[in-house]
Amino acid sequence: MTYQRPNIEKMQGYSPGEQLNDPAVIKLNTNENPYPVSEKAQAALRNLDAASLRRYPPPLADDFRRAAAQLHGISPDNIMATNGGDELLRLILTTYVDSNETVAVTRPSYSLYPVLVDVQGCKLHEIDLQEDWSMPADFAQQLQQANAKLCILVNPHAPSGKLLSQDYLSELAAAFSGILLVDEAYVDFIEPEQNYQSVPLIDKHENVLILRTMSKGYSLAGLRFGYGLGAESLIAPMLYKTRDSYNTDLIAQKLALAAITDQDYAQSTWERVRQSRNSLTEQLNSLGFTVLPSHANFVLAQVPDKMDAKALQLALKERKILIRYFDQDRLRDKLRISIGTDAENDRLLEALHELLA
Ligand SMILES: Cc1ncc(COP(=O)(O)O)c(C=O)c1O
Repeated sequence: MTYQRPNIEKMQGYSPGEQLNDPAVIKLNTNENPYPVSEKAQAALRNLDAASLRRYPPPLADDFRRAAAQLHGISPDNIMATNGGDELLRLILTTYVDSNETVAVTRPSYSLYPVLVDVQGCKLHEIDLQEDWSMPADFAQQLQQANAKLCILVNPHAPSGKLLSQDYLSELAAAFSGILLVDEAYVDFIEPEQNYQSVPLIDKHENVLILRTMSKGYSLAGLRFGYGLGAESLIAPMLYKTRDSYNTDLIAQKLALAAITDQDYAQSTWERVRQSRNSLTEQLNSLGFTVLPSHANFVLAQVPDKMDAKALQLALKERKILIRYFDQDRLRDKLRISIGTDAENDRLLEALHELLA
């Protein structure tokens, strides 16, 4: 006897990366920012008056929306704040995808997408990426053939770190009749020289939604704060109809506001991550791994010939270094490694040196 809806009974839940509560552990498994929370956000936390928690928070997080709107040069009506980027994903499905409709994603991709599709009870259509992780040439046609209502693309791609250009996304949005959700959880780590500018797409295409998070670029994964950007016609139904009554709490709103307005600090962490990523990539390649250039705060490393990726991950765990292994097609010979501080990356490299010897 079960009270679960049939789709919930059948489904598997999301498996998050391990969160060990041991300060000695080097945690390179969930793509957190290795650098501290902005001083301004820390001060906002210290200055918080507990008495203010007696009241409900501003329901729409308007101060944050205004600050994010200013940063991106758009109107607050084009922005909604969410309890982590993950809440935005859930809201998009709840608001826009009926149970007989289809969500298209690439394979592989962020493993939460299929879980949310199962929860919603709608259909999933997975489109395989090419050998080099690029998009198949007929991707837009495949979306139309699958009659997809929503397509979710993560850019830079997880877990490969590959970047699609804004021109590609713009052409795809024009060719697709459903909603194109560009999940930009890792956008802050793209090199400025790439000149990647996706926000103008929301003006140009009424079917483009962009996901951003404070978890990675702003070192606030524990806070649970993200936001969506899109045409007002896409944002308003989620903002005024399907959102939880008070979906972001007062503490989160204040800290997220302080962090997003401290751009100089955030950008300094992104630059450090980029530099470490480039040197880690080089050093892993010289150890015999195959690592493609990544535009995110992680790299996907194919282990040297004849090595067992899962065994390597476990051996590192014994040495208190956590990295991520995915038991999935195309990923079983690879490890996803989040970029840590230089000291953490050096510890990882030393351990790998020993294990490969
Ligand atoms: C691709 C991708 N999208 C979205 C998220 C959501 O992040 P959060 O809910 O912490 O904002 C993550 C987190 O790992 C992610 O990897």
